[in-house]
Amino acid sequence: MQTITIQTVPFTDQRPGTSGLRKKVQQFQQPHYLENFIQSIFNSRPDLKGGSMVVGGDGRFYNRQALQIIIRMAAANGVKKIMVGKNGILSTPATSCVIRKHRLNGGIILSASHNPGGPEGDFGVKFNAENGGPAPAAITEAIHRESLKISHYRIADSADIDLDTIGTGTLGKMAWEIIDPVSDYLELMEELFDFDRIAELLKSGSFRMVFDAMNAVNGPYAATIFNQRLGAPATMLQGCTPLEDFGGLHPDPNLEYAKNLVRIMFGDTPPDFGAASDGDGDRNMILGNRFFVTPSDSVAILAANAHLVPGYRQGLSGLARSMPTSAALDRVAEKLDITCYETPTGWKFFGDLLDAGKVSICGEESFGTGSDHIREKDGLWAVLFWLNIIAATGKSVQEIVESHWEQFGRNYYTRHDYEGIDIEAANKLIADLRASFPRLPGTVYGSYTVKHADDFSYIDPFDGSITEHQGMRILFARGSRIVFRLSGTGTQGATLRVYIEKYQDRNGNLFEETQQALEELITIADELAGIREKTGRNRPSVIT
Ligand code: G1P
Ligand code: ZN
Repeated sequence: MQTITIQTVPFTDQRPGTSGLRKKVQQFQQPHYLENFIQSIFNSRPDLKGGSMVVGGDGRFYNRQALQIIIRMAAANGVKKIMVGKNGILSTPATSCVIRKHRLNGGIILSASHNPGGPEGDFGVKFNAENGGPAPAAITEAIHRESLKISHYRIADSADIDLDTIGTGTLGKMAWEIIDPVSDYLELMEELFDFDRIAELLKSGSFRMVFDAMNAVNGPYAATIFNQRLGAPATMLQGCTPLEDFGGLHPDPNLEYAKNLVRIMFGDTPPDFGAASDGDGDRNMILGNRFFVTPSDSVAILAANAHLVPGYRQGLSGLARSMPTSAALDRVAEKLDITCYETPTGWKFFGDLLDAGKVSICGEESFGTGSDHIREKDGLWAVLFWLNIIAATGKSVQEIVESHWEQFGRNYYTRHDYEGIDIEAANKLIADLRASFPRLPGTVYGSYTVKHADDFSYIDPFDGSITEHQGMRILFARGSRIVFRLSGTGTQGATLRVYIEKYQDRNGNLFEETQQALEELITIADELAGIREKTGRNRPSVIT
């Protein structure tokens, strides 16, 4: 094998966002663009030289070509061993699992998560460190610094390797192995959940479920786990063949984009349970018979029922949620007498809490739920957790959620997204809010009084690092709040996210329709930020 060194010049836009470097496919296809970023990873991670790593992706357009480039660059950069998901497939949670199980030095995941794929869609590269989790800011910043001073990259002058057959081989001094993307992950799930009980439920004939992989990465995982291992009829699975453009879908499991599933679950004869996952398999949506479980409630309910699940029976060390996620989880922590940490948006902030054993279960309002079993959020894990609770209690999804509210009270919660708005207008909206904050405390808006307003910042309890400007929070008396923040994952214009929450204790009305219960706060949000006036939009593009 011959290694060649190619001269290049830096691209100035290779700073990873909330979750890796995410751009339009065409941007990644520019000469040297992908190579520069990958070389920047190798330059900033000297342990990869002589070390081992894994690569795979969510199967989107450009996945295979990019994988071949990365494999050749790994060989040229002295990697000793590389594992690759068969067909180029590895979900984000499975990659985390493989890194941890095989004690690798890291991994690269090719995915733009829930963003659309195809030649006109998005592509992305995420680097995960040896704990299996998304690279923390110190690493992503180091990669970015390398990307700004790069002058050349190294790549093997060799033919493509066969991604579609399990097997091993060498490329120069580097060993490669094509692995079954599902088996390590399945083994871990079997350790955590009561598979016998779930199988009994799925085969009983009296319980109907639909799982929708949204034509994305979790298809092969769902087929192996639900159908082959747990005996669920294949008719319970849909969208389980990964497609390069996700069949034109926006592979994001929410009420807006998971239309095929929503139609079934809110149709004439809905099954008992419905679930979907996103492009790279780390997000999940849980539905009951004509019933939507908010992700904030979902993580709280998993924590409150964890004693029913073998892997968590010994108790939970602590809980964590991202700041915009509702405080439903905090109430469970209170009852269990454990800490609930509040972190900035993005799974990477849970990493060291999980590593230190301070947190067992954590989640985000953005359909992300997970635990200390890996260092990523995990869509199928959440689905299996729900199925385990249903199998153990014999209750329906709606009964489980409503009895949770009756015990803990309810955090009415919604997120309104304004996608693709003008970047300057979005920045101005946030700046104006910031300027208004000093005079907000004590101000009365209808039946709400502002208690506190700030721009959320986080001090990492381990390394003391400070992460600022993580969302404009307006906290009202009695547990209600509005949060405004700009997305860090979009690739077009700006996306304004408005998070609205109202706490209702167990003695009040727990069964109002969400948007109605939050109507007054929704109006206040517009009044406070001038959303309509400043964005020129009359309504959000997505409501979850
Ligand atoms: C979004 C979600 C965030 C999640 C991230 C990656 O980021 O809001 O919770 O961790 O995607 O899946 P955002 O676009 O808001 O920066
Ligand atoms: Zn994802």
